[in-house]
Amino acid sequence: MREVHAFAPGKLILAGEHAVVYGYRAVALAVSLGTTVRLCERPGPSAVDASEIKDSRLWPALSTVVPKEGVGVHIASTLPVGCGMGSSAALAVATVRAVARWEGREASFEECFEKAFVIERVFHGTPSGIDHTVSALGGVVVYRRGAGGPELEQLTLSRPLFLVVVDTGPPEKSTAEMVAGVRERAPTEELSAIGALVEQVVVVLKAGGEVGPLLDQNHRLLQKIGVSTPVLDDAVAQLWQAGASGAKLAGAGGGGVVFGLLTEVQQQPVVEGLLRDGFRAWAVQAG
Ligand code: PMV
Repeated sequence: MREVHAFAPGKLILAGEHAVVYGYRAVALAVSLGTTVRLCERPGPSAVDASEIKDSRLWPALSTVVPKEGVGVHIASTLPVGCGMGSSAALAVATVRAVARWEGREASFEECFEKAFVIERVFHGTPSGIDHTVSALGGVVVYRRGAGGPELEQLTLSRPLFLVVVDTGPPEKSTAEMVAGVRERAPTEELSAIGALVEQVVVVLKAGGEVGPLLDQNHRLLQKIGVSTPVLDDAVAQLWQAGASGAKLAGAGGGGVVFGLLTEVQQQPVVEGLLRDGFRAWAVQAG
């Protein structure tokens, strides 16, 4: 039986979520967790044959790229779904890559970008595009959305970042609803402050300096625009207590993940402590 598979990573937004929707830059990094899509021959119309994702938009989204007949889609992911780690983007990019392999070729970045964006729009309405861009490119990416296409800068870090990610559980509201809430409240000053902060983060990352305090400022601004929650704030405080030099929520907020910046020596013991306390937590390294 014919079978192909492809993988794509999830992401974390280091700084700049929400402001990125309004044309400011944001920095995101690809993580080692991700999604594998396997395509197998199946008789009759194509369909999703195996997936833990229970979402009515799943097939409408994937059918924009999967051939109409004869393909069974099997999805396996190590990412928490809908928690700000880009699970839908990883699914979208992995599917585009798998379909290209099904057709006997490899998908270029441009093809991944265009086709995964179509899938992401089915899931999220009008996403900025940062999630699937980072999933398709890997590494650390500075992203600005633009009418004529995105503006991208791939960053080489002068020293690696050691992060601990904690999952506080799925948010009550979708990314689209969180973005709509911010649009209603229109906190223009805070959004522009986040945009300015991102530019500082980029400079400090390039210089190998200490970004922790800037991440703390970013979290406080996300609190001000109304996307943090007491549970997210508690998780951030727990990371500070564990010795993080900076911590913030990542993604749309309202729930989902937070991360803290630690040292290489602190990273594993902090993850183990959080796992013992019953949290889902991961060590992530960038650069
Ligand atoms: O929670 P996520 O992974 O979907 O990230 C959303 C990031 C936002 O800036 C809030 C929205 C967007 O489209 O960029």
